[in-house]
Amino acid sequence: MASRRDFVKFMGRTGLLAATFAPFIKVTGASAAAMFNSNGTLPFTPLPITMKDDVVLPDGFNYHVILSWGDKINATETFGFGNDYTAFFPINGNSLDGVLWVNHEGTDPYLVSNYDGKSAKTKEQVDAEMLSVGGALVRIKLNPLTNKWEQVVNDKYNRRISAKTPIPFAWHEPIDGSNIAIGTMGNCAGGVTPWNTLLTCEEGFDGFWGDKDEKGTVTPGHLQWEKFNSYSPLHYGWVVEVDPFTGKSKKLVSLGRFAHEAAVPALAKDGRCVVYTGDDANDECLYKFISDKPGNLEIGTLYVANFEKGEWVSMDIEKQDILKANFKSQTDVLLNCRKAAHLVGGSKLDRPEDIEIDPVTNDVFITLSNNNPKGNYHGTIVRITEDERGSLKFKSSVLLTGGKETGFSSPDNIAFDKKGNLWFTTDISGTALNTGDPIYAGFGNNSLFYVPMSGPDAGKPFRVATGPMECEFTGPAFSPDFKTLFLSVQHPGETSGRHGKYTSNWPNGGNSMPKCSVIGISGPALDALMA
Ligand code: FEO
Ligand code: CA
Ligand code: CA
Ligand code: CA
Repeated sequence: MASRRDFVKFMGRTGLLAATFAPFIKVTGASAAAMFNSNGTLPFTPLPITMKDDVVLPDGFNYHVILSWGDKINATETFGFGNDYTAFFPINGNSLDGVLWVNHEGTDPYLVSNYDGKSAKTKEQVDAEMLSVGGALVRIKLNPLTNKWEQVVNDKYNRRISAKTPIPFAWHEPIDGSNIAIGTMGNCAGGVTPWNTLLTCEEGFDGFWGDKDEKGTVTPGHLQWEKFNSYSPLHYGWVVEVDPFTGKSKKLVSLGRFAHEAAVPALAKDGRCVVYTGDDANDECLYKFISDKPGNLEIGTLYVANFEKGEWVSMDIEKQDILKANFKSQTDVLLNCRKAAHLVGGSKLDRPEDIEIDPVTNDVFITLSNNNPKGNYHGTIVRITEDERGSLKFKSSVLLTGGKETGFSSPDNIAFDKKGNLWFTTDISGTALNTGDPIYAGFGNNSLFYVPMSGPDAGKPFRVATGPMECEFTGPAFSPDFKTLFLSVQHPGETSGRHGKYTSNWPNGGNSMPKCSVIGISGPALDALMA
């Protein structure tokens, strides 16, 4: 944890740079990524951009693969595709032996079901894709001889949750005629509750079962899953709470239905639980939920952020005449959250991605990835300051703006380390990454950045890892002893299907199929940063 003195220094230093955040910020294009010099304080030499098909790290860091797509975790189940959010839950307080949760955000028909992109899918192909998404719970241990994390295969805690797992709604009435949804998918980022359950967020839900509008019109998904199953699109787009030791899950209707990226819990002074959650789509909103009771997220009030006023605006139908005039019930408000949020004055943001709470200052940090139609190509990292977690007022400012001056574009996942320094990953879209697109030229492969939050280098992003071709890094999370950074390598070789050949061969090299994997990053440079 950073000292109070460091914190004061940081405020003094970056206070001058901080601009008040206005949600209509515009950022111009860039053609080359700058690199910052450190003032000799870093225990590593920051990386330049790379376009290598590997995880590239500075001297002093190393990585090992812990779990890859397709790995057997028990007699009947395998590790899924599209790894994203990770969270480690120690067993009996042992920080070197625990259950790792990993989100499986998406699938890839070319790699997962050998689909040729032209013919009608078979039931076997759809089943393979349905089983590749959701999440995984896997017991891992640090092997003291190799200093590498290893899966405990067939452990009693190993289990999958997939697009086929029945999950009840935690709500007082059925959702589109059912109290139970079949499956979870689009699982992007998440958070851990004070009572040690995890929240996993259904982000791009409409790609799977499509969507259903207020009039009941269904737009199909693009995976052909509807051919063999019939589930309501309204059953997806929720935050799901999971017990990591039993796998018991429920969908939290109270937090609304939209493209949830992250859901990050914290405690208010009076013990109620607050959850920050964003809707990752152009011109969508940031939300804060406050539970009615401690230790339970099933009932409470959802608020949407109005950045112009610095207010969290209630979305309770009983408190908002405009909601009463437009919706039949609170369930109806939560099902159509985007429309309701806009009606009550929620600010339209540039794709809110991950959220984390600074352990030193308690400020909430949010990445706004980009908003190309508005001319914001490179995104921002925004800070929200509240007097108290349960407060309905806030102040906002910008920590960092992407672009050629800062050397990064499209920030996505974030994590704070033991010292209160910030780590973030980038997600330049596969359609723009190293394709010659002039806006994103010069940024190289998606990367991991380290941002000191105090001292002479405060606020400077330093590139600390670059990923294999076409991947994005996701799900950064530290082990409890801060000696390992768990990191997902998502969709290496993402355009393989389009090209009809593998565009990455990571992690196994040669001509092998690319495999989404979770890695552990460790080494003397990481130890020095945490010392
Ligand atoms: Fe799943 Fe918005 O990234
Ligand atoms: Ca993300
Ligand atoms: Ca995070
Ligand atoms: Ca993203």
